Amino acid sequence: MKIKTFFWVALAAVSGLTVWAAEPDLGPIPGNPPGMKPLTSHRTPADRAAKEFLHGVNLADYLEASPQYFGRGVVVEAGELAQIKKEGFDHVRVPIGWHHFTGAAPEFALMPVIFSRVDFIVTNCLKNRLAVMINIHHFDELDRDPAMAKGEFLAIWRQIAAHYQKFPATLAFELDNEPHDQATTALMNPIYAQVITEIRRTNPHRTIFVEPGNWGSIGELKNLVLPPDDNVIVSVHCYDPFYFTHQGASWVNEVLPTGVVFPGPPPTPLVPDAKLKLKPWVRDWIKKYNTLPTEQNPSSPAAFAGKFKYLRAWSDYYGRPVHIGEFGAYTKGDQASRVHFYTAFRQAAEAEKLGWCIWDWSSGFRYWDKKNNRPVPGMATALFGRKE
Ligand code: BGC
Repeated sequence: MKIKTFFWVALAAVSGLTVWAAEPDLGPIPGNPPGMKPLTSHRTPADRAAKEFLHGVNLADYLEASPQYFGRGVVVEAGELAQIKKEGFDHVRVPIGWHHFTGAAPEFALMPVIFSRVDFIVTNCLKNRLAVMINIHHFDELDRDPAMAKGEFLAIWRQIAAHYQKFPATLAFELDNEPHDQATTALMNPIYAQVITEIRRTNPHRTIFVEPGNWGSIGELKNLVLPPDDNVIVSVHCYDPFYFTHQGASWVNEVLPTGVVFPGPPPTPLVPDAKLKLKPWVRDWIKKYNTLPTEQNPSSPAAFAGKFKYLRAWSDYYGRPVHIGEFGAYTKGDQASRVHFYTAFRQAAEAEKLGWCIWDWSSGFRYWDKKNNRPVPGMATALFGRKE
């Protein structure tokens, strides 16, 4: 995952609908290609649906994991969906590896076993009055060669759409998790438009979420071109400050030092293990983290609060609701810092009226401590302001 240094400079709302975000990374609003036309109504089906997707949780490392791991890692029981509702969440995002269950081209017929596993989660969410979003997760072929994988992508969605066409409106589809590499926003725009047309044949009123390229990055919103469909919500991912949220993560190219607190600066400077061989920009980040006061510290709300102002301005201008589909901090960080982080992030998102969805329920970034059958200490306070 790529990280960009962020400097929020200023946001000026000028007469009428014209808004400029004087922000070097994110660019001006309006700034999308001319094909991206603003929707004039702010009372679209997507706006109404967005109200059902405000406080969510990702059911991570479950249905998206390689099929051979099914049942060996995270296992979700029906009672956990009731618990999710009881905790105060209103929706669940379900990452799914459908592409592991397809038959031969050109049909790419999905095996019944994946539908039965997804049905189990979807029906239990709906039973507990949770909105639910199902996606395609880790479809690497699409990231490697979108033109080549497009046929399979369309075939998967055609089948999912047919299977769920009679389901309630609080079931939503998210087309693709974190497009990246060759799956740039520009390349994905026409593919998304085609999949949306396909889904609309059987599901004229279903809410559809789409993510921009570069891993659902906020900086890619400016390249998005959506069809005029008024039931599409844009979803972005934000793991800033990355060197805090992903400390010690083995799946990040360069494993980052642990011991990073939130907010910085730390009481005693962090001296990373010499064995880690960190890149110059990580060293520079650590230097700033060790020395700058909290308001300017890179491990502080300054890493995301300005981005959320941009999201609000972009959403208002284009008439498209924006949702933060993934954010979170790995459990290698100390728990007090994780609680400060989830609190600050959640509050900053809510200040801009943005729906959020934490990564994750019971895995490496967990909210729920399955062993002790209770939230990880501090998490219920962080997300719902509840006394513990
Ligand atoms: C990936 C997970 C990862 C998480 C945080 C998600 O999009 O699917 O595998 O743990 O991001 O890095």
